Amino acid sequence: MKNLVTYLAFSVIISSMISCGEAKARSTKQNSVFSEVKDSIAIKVDALLAKMTIEEKIGQMNQYNGFWDVTGPVPQNGDAAQKYEHLKKGWVGSMLNVKGVTDVRKVQKIAVEETRLGIPLIIGFDVIHGYKTISPIPLAEAASWDLEAIKLSAQVAAEEAAASGINWTFAPMVDISRDARWGRVMEGAGEDPYLGSLIAKARVQGFQGDDLALANTIAACAKHFVGYGFPEDGKDYNTVDVGTSTLYNIILPPFKAAKEAGARTFMNAFNELNGIPATGNAFLQRDILKGEWNFDGFVVTDWGSINEMIAHRYAENRNMAAEIAIKAGADMDMESYAYVNELATLVKEGKVDEALIDDAVKRILRVKYELGLFEDPYKYCNEAVEKEVIGSKRIMDAVLDMAKKSIVLLKNENNLLPLKKNGQKIAVIGALADDTTSPLGSWRIAADDGTAVSVLEGLKAYKGNTITYEKGADVVTGETLFPKELTINVSEKSGFAAAVSAAKSADVVIMVLGEHGLHSGEGRSRSEIGLTGVQQELLETVYKANKNIVLVLNNGRPLTINWADAHIPAIVEAWHLGTQSGHAIAQVLYGDYNPSGKLPMTFPKNVGQVPIYYNHKSTGRPTIPAPGEVFWSHYTDVSNAPLYPFGYGLSYTTFEYSDLKVNVTSNTTVTVSVNLTNTGNVKGKEVAQLYIRDEFASVTRPVRELKGFELVELQPNETKTITFNLTDQELGFYNNNGKFSVEPGTFSIFVGGSSDATLTSQFEL
Ligand code: BGC
Repeated sequence: MKNLVTYLAFSVIISSMISCGEAKARSTKQNSVFSEVKDSIAIKVDALLAKMTIEEKIGQMNQYNGFWDVTGPVPQNGDAAQKYEHLKKGWVGSMLNVKGVTDVRKVQKIAVEETRLGIPLIIGFDVIHGYKTISPIPLAEAASWDLEAIKLSAQVAAEEAAASGINWTFAPMVDISRDARWGRVMEGAGEDPYLGSLIAKARVQGFQGDDLALANTIAACAKHFVGYGFPEDGKDYNTVDVGTSTLYNIILPPFKAAKEAGARTFMNAFNELNGIPATGNAFLQRDILKGEWNFDGFVVTDWGSINEMIAHRYAENRNMAAEIAIKAGADMDMESYAYVNELATLVKEGKVDEALIDDAVKRILRVKYELGLFEDPYKYCNEAVEKEVIGSKRIMDAVLDMAKKSIVLLKNENNLLPLKKNGQKIAVIGALADDTTSPLGSWRIAADDGTAVSVLEGLKAYKGNTITYEKGADVVTGETLFPKELTINVSEKSGFAAAVSAAKSADVVIMVLGEHGLHSGEGRSRSEIGLTGVQQELLETVYKANKNIVLVLNNGRPLTINWADAHIPAIVEAWHLGTQSGHAIAQVLYGDYNPSGKLPMTFPKNVGQVPIYYNHKSTGRPTIPAPGEVFWSHYTDVSNAPLYPFGYGLSYTTFEYSDLKVNVTSNTTVTVSVNLTNTGNVKGKEVAQLYIRDEFASVTRPVRELKGFELVELQPNETKTITFNLTDQELGFYNNNGKFSVEPGTFSIFVGGSSDATLTSQFEL
């Protein structure tokens, strides 16, 4: 109680200081106040720990799935009755997938009122892209390059989830990936560690806000630590084998950024990394995360990943797996039943030091205190707030705005877009055009099927044109939420004829094609990444009837759309954009919103090019030598170039870059400036991008690396000077011993609207 009073007193001090506006004094004092709050939490945690039995401590490290939803395979040895018994004994520290104020209150009440110590549960949920109101899939949001919008998107998702009783999200997923076959690319920020790090930070800040103790902020979880985005052959959960340079320079940076932004939890991963499962990997969790990075939150395992170390052939049985996991630094066991069943014995037998358990429990309790759960375990359980917040106009507006910002214009020959608003006959074709579930994407477990605005509905909101709709062909059959398998090979073509006849009498054809929302996501890797089923054939057939086609893509990964790129005059990348999808797409097609998205992942020409990414290394034989020469690094059947490069995206206006200037101000600081002009006829936004190349280094460096960008809005004919500041953070890299430094020498820079930027200069450090 005394500590609570002290805490409240601190809050009063903070707010009175804020109102006085003593900015500088405020930040120094605030820091010391916060560290005192932290100290007071540490005192409370120690006091509570001292009262706990070993079983109660281990209970805090045990997380169970709710009894309602299941997002993974259900372990054979666990059932609802046993979970319920454990909950009553205080052997459960957290639950996931319990949602809604009524249900959360039910389980929280058991933890708080029926257990000996009354320690509240922390309630986790996959709030990945929205909660009940769904925002664009994270890959789409990354295409906005708009960090403020991404932060806001995470913030409103947190608000909605918090209003539903949830206090912890298993997001952001900050896994970098270069393999479009991997189904979970939809859940990350794409292929680039620089963009990925900034987005990781924005998302963590959005979920957690400035004060975790508020009832509308929730704890974030950076996942999957680490390497999960680099599975061999793109198959989910597969082996990961990467060198130190890739680990330190590509994979780890977004996790470090998430930690620095204050992410209170991390999730480890299903994959093995260089022979050691991530869940049992002490180098990752103890040496890097908790050691070098000084992370003081807690690590939760991925679903059942302690047990999976047996299938990895790393642990011989569950007992051994539990021992490996705790020693490696995994603090909370998600659904392996390993800690709750094995740890006490391991401690008794002297195989596991109780100090390791104490450390894990302290971390977990600390986060619960920070969330304010001890002060009021029901603070997230307010029916009135739940009613008011979920699906509110404010949240709907935020996801609509995010959806528009996520759209990327890939092609627009002869300015086919924007569409004329009146007097046009428009044929809309494709099953996805009339789908109100698919736009919700893959992670939408709290959202109801059928709650997205379809493209057709979005277009119909514009009344000046005549619209006819034909499905043409199905995209999936037998769809249910999280079906075991989605049929991709839909082959029924009986709808083609009607689609052709609608196209024949139309001025413009809008074809909405791609993948269903559940074709990407966890466990949804694909070996072919074109349009699914017979959609390619449908596209080619309709094209024969009317060439005036706008292709709107719905997809959760880069697709191979060579034919479309060669033939279709306008292509719009519209991903899976969430609840407001159809309105966002229609507003872009009609020019009420000028698209400014840029691809966060390279689009390959064919799947054989994968993994394909812009920041690759050079080779000893990198360029095209004399014509007819064979012995250089290339394919004999496809060029090395991608279909669309990283950072690429068009607008309804055009931009020109000029007057590139470089000023080296010290041996680790460089200023780059460039003029950007809107040379077209309408207002528009451009993501100006800066890439560097460290020409020669002790460890070879990529041919280009993104090191700065700015989203700039310009009126027609307006010019702005953009300045990028490069510091040691941007100029340096990790060597193969994990040491970060800037190496003097020559650097090239490239500035422009994509990773293919041609405006270039050099400087020496
Ligand atoms: C996924 C995690 C997710 C967890 C809980 C796992 O299968 O890999 O990302 O947070 O399930 O739903």
